Amino acid sequence: MSTIEFPGGFLWGAATAAYQIEGAAQEGGRTPSIWDVFARTPGKVHHGDTGDVACDHYHRWEQDLDLVASLGLGAYRLSLAWPRLQPNGRGPLTQHVVDHYRRVLDGLRERDVVPMVTLYHWDLPQDLQEEGGWAVRSTAERFGEYAAQVAAALGDEVPFWVTLNEPYCSSFLGYLEGRHAPGVQSMAAAVAASHHLLLGHARALAALRAADVTGEVGITLNLSSAWPASDDPAAVAAARRVDGRENRWFLDPVFRGSYPQDMVELQRAETDMAFVLDGDLEAISAPLDFAGINYYERHFVSPHPDDPRGWVKQPDAGPLTAGGIGIHPDGLREVLVRVATDYTDVPLYVTENGAAFDDYVDPEGGVDDEERVAFLDGHLRAVRQAIEQGADVRGYFVWSLLDNFEWALGYSKRFGIVYVDYRTQERIPKRSARWYAGVARANAVGE
Ligand code: NOJ
Repeated sequence: MSTIEFPGGFLWGAATAAYQIEGAAQEGGRTPSIWDVFARTPGKVHHGDTGDVACDHYHRWEQDLDLVASLGLGAYRLSLAWPRLQPNGRGPLTQHVVDHYRRVLDGLRERDVVPMVTLYHWDLPQDLQEEGGWAVRSTAERFGEYAAQVAAALGDEVPFWVTLNEPYCSSFLGYLEGRHAPGVQSMAAAVAASHHLLLGHARALAALRAADVTGEVGITLNLSSAWPASDDPAAVAAARRVDGRENRWFLDPVFRGSYPQDMVELQRAETDMAFVLDGDLEAISAPLDFAGINYYERHFVSPHPDDPRGWVKQPDAGPLTAGGIGIHPDGLREVLVRVATDYTDVPLYVTENGAAFDDYVDPEGGVDDEERVAFLDGHLRAVRQAIEQGADVRGYFVWSLLDNFEWALGYSKRFGIVYVDYRTQERIPKRSARWYAGVARANAVGE
């Protein structure tokens, strides 16, 4: 296949999140998050896995930063652990934890790696959950206060801030499907949680602006490509609902200052949305410096009268990842172009894209994940096409640097470009890591 070059200055990175890699869960005054509690609830996480040790990154961060540097990556996306920095979710930050993250950020700068820092990647302090979690408004206020303190402590160190990671998952997987922490199953709570998450974004954004941080501020939304499974008008309407729930429900308030009316009507029996107060949507739609987009899936949607939602997602005909997700690189082009065309002209970053495959260490000690190489190759070509079609995409972060705790799937799914032997904590760069390093070096995807 042909070689395609990326624009000069394109950021090549890898992403992680605190609970998925740090471990050290009981250390230094860290209090439990909703994921510590959820993971300890029988039946919630595959194999009863927890993030107690994970990749032990809290202790091995220097070695892991060396790994990032050795791959020649220009950027690294990490998240800060709220229950570690501010145990219980209120009060002052813990100084030695601030110092820890400052060392990490300095360590990245020393290695010429640009940090992108996510303030909330799902580890809500459990104490705030006891008060209602994201289903109540006060959690948004607590998050804003937390963000203000982080801005004061680290505001000069971070070139890119991401307020929230994937509020769709926090609200609808956490409060409607119950597959993620806190494991609630209620449409009314999920819709309230989605609003309070977005309000939390607004509060954090305002706090970062008020602190005059030097870096740019954005939000990361996971966007899907929702297609009707057939050209039956009922399938088209069903796909629009999925698009409404997963995409428009977050894009519209952030970039247009309103919730999509068709979805508001659809959920009216369950919630009247009285929790949306005057000024909320104005704050939620305050200008951003960039938008972060995570892309993993294209759905094929059919109407289904027996399903309470009125639709079902059809099984994908493949090829599939080890997580059973269909591989559709063109969906990434589609979502990037859509955001650029319909929503905003701020620069876009693919803040996550990647896949799980059945990786194993071969007798020679290597990990030959050629499927992941093909996956990344296809998706990067799709990013390049999106740029040609007018999307101002400035960077790409592969999910993930390391194999890690894949939420409800525990350690059973490996997304890393670096293999982690959880017994020994050995890191083994996979074939994809070497391939991706070559892409970053050449600023191009080649043969
Ligand atoms: C998105 C989430 O942000 C990340 O935490 C997760 O591991 C990946 N998707 C893969 O499922």
